[in-house]
Amino acid sequence: MKIRKIAILTSGGDAPGMNTVIWAIVNCSQKKGIETYVVYDGYKGLAEGNIQKITSADVDTWVKKGGTKIYSTRYPEFKDEAVRKIAKEQLDKHNIDALVVIGGDGTFIGAKLLSELGVKTVGIPGTIDNDIPTTDLTIGYITAIETVTDALEKIRDTLESHNRAAIIEVMGRYSGALALSAAIVTGAEGLSIPERKLTEEEIIETIKQARNNGHRSIIVVVTEKLYDVKALANKIQELTGIETRGNILGHLQRGGSPAPSERILAVRMGVFAVKQLIEGKTGITINSVNSKMVAIPIEETVTSERTNLVELLEQYDLVK
Ligand code: F6P
Repeated sequence: MKIRKIAILTSGGDAPGMNTVIWAIVNCSQKKGIETYVVYDGYKGLAEGNIQKITSADVDTWVKKGGTKIYSTRYPEFKDEAVRKIAKEQLDKHNIDALVVIGGDGTFIGAKLLSELGVKTVGIPGTIDNDIPTTDLTIGYITAIETVTDALEKIRDTLESHNRAAIIEVMGRYSGALALSAAIVTGAEGLSIPERKLTEEEIIETIKQARNNGHRSIIVVVTEKLYDVKALANKIQELTGIETRGNILGHLQRGGSPAPSERILAVRMGVFAVKQLIEGKTGITINSVNSKMVAIPIEETVTSERTNLVELLEQYDLVK
């Protein structure tokens, strides 16, 4: 069946580069004579029929914009089949032939369930967490590394001025990918991630050792959800006498304009998605594997094993 109308939605946590993908899909589709629609507010907007036609003129500056211009929600109600059936009816009402969803694993599960109802879906990985196992890179991750690096280096300036240590919490949900990359590129003295969680005693030992080695500023990067970083910092200070602060980077990690290399990835993924749809391929995710664009069944993407970060960490063998 010829694809005439494609709809796009973003879901879950926003990520730099989401707008770039939309920009690419809209422009590429227009060149191929395909109409494009956006669904505002993710799956919630889909169920509510918040769908609008969009052209390249509407997205002219989106290539560089942070966040998601078509908004996003977390919408657990989508687990309900009755809600998904309503969502399908909304697409049918607009005669939409295929739906491209941009987001993380929760978004992909939604797409998989929709495709089981007969909706032609394509998933594009967009999350700062880089936790989609079938792709080397998710859109948003490269920019988030830059953002976190910048924040860590600024904090390091202050740590050095004041002869302090800091426990710095980085996002990532259940993946240590972002924390690991940021720790490597900033030369952090310590790292604790879900895949290799340090005990509080090990963190204290790491800080003491760094101080014994003459480090004035000491950074221990930790993934969110592992510790109460403020309480841990207080405990370290009490036990070691080393002045220590707990910092939570929070949502500053998700915003901002996508880095140039992020935009390149986003454009490649968006254009590849449109081409796959034209070739009649659906029920897939778009992945970057060894720098090549690869389509993989959604089912496989959502059931694959996570990348072994401990192995990766051992390759660096620098941070404790
Ligand atoms: O998935 C992106 C992410 O930023 C995670 O790193 C984090 O755990 C989560 O989203 C936070 O979600 P929210 O913005 O809904 O609090």
